[in-house]
Amino acid sequence: MGRVKIAAGNWKMNKTAKEAVEFVQALKDKVAGADAEVVTGVPFVCIPSVKKAVEGSNIKVAAQNMHWEENGAFTGEVSGAMLADLEVNYVIIGHSERRQYFAETDETVNKKVHAAFKYGLKPIICVGESLTQREQGVTAELVRYQVKIALLGLSAEQVKEAVIAYEPIWAIGTGKTATSEQAQEVCAVIRKVIEELYGKDVADAIRILYGGSVKASNAAELFNMSDIDGGLVGGASLQVDEFDKIVNYNK
Ligand code: 13P
Repeated sequence: MGRVKIAAGNWKMNKTAKEAVEFVQALKDKVAGADAEVVTGVPFVCIPSVKKAVEGSNIKVAAQNMHWEENGAFTGEVSGAMLADLEVNYVIIGHSERRQYFAETDETVNKKVHAAFKYGLKPIICVGESLTQREQGVTAELVRYQVKIALLGLSAEQVKEAVIAYEPIWAIGTGKTATSEQAQEVCAVIRKVIEELYGKDVADAIRILYGGSVKASNAAELFNMSDIDGGLVGGASLQVDEFDKIVNYNK
């Protein structure tokens, strides 16, 4: 099938522009020969200097959010047009922290995904259940629903280019990683729903990541599962050596 793995860092609200540049300069050479695609999801204000620092390297840059409108009276927001102007490659959409603290919904996620494609940005769409939802036994239904709404109205070609990140909320920042079997099970559910909606070609092409306490010591086991195409990494992506080991999980 030949899906290229992705090791994506989500820095969240961490690092100044100066620290960000130091980080990618230290990371560049270490990950130069990596088989996985390397993505750093940096705060908006770090994007210009990080883009400049990664020039000529294989490190790609993601934003952590965007608005769906091109411009207008949306104080504090950043548009896809602005990110495209900075030649940002990816944009993380619908992270559970955005859903929880900033009232994002499946509907706004869908609007943002459409806007991302309009401006040539690849969306990394986050889905995942809370601990209560897992205990209630609704994980598969919930994740299927989140994926369906996020992708509403997209073409098959667009869905092939999208990335989905399965991030169980109970595993984020808790040190409690889903087992590789648990992560594989839900990533397979996601690929199945995409197959139902868009066919096998698209389901085989789309990349599905796992996120939630990924670290150097568990990356290989997770990334080698058949439906897991890499990871979206929070805390462990803030340290050069740890993130390098995650990117080079197969070496
Ligand atoms: P941690 O890797 O810190 O658990 O965070 C995961 C995450 O939210 C990535 O988007």
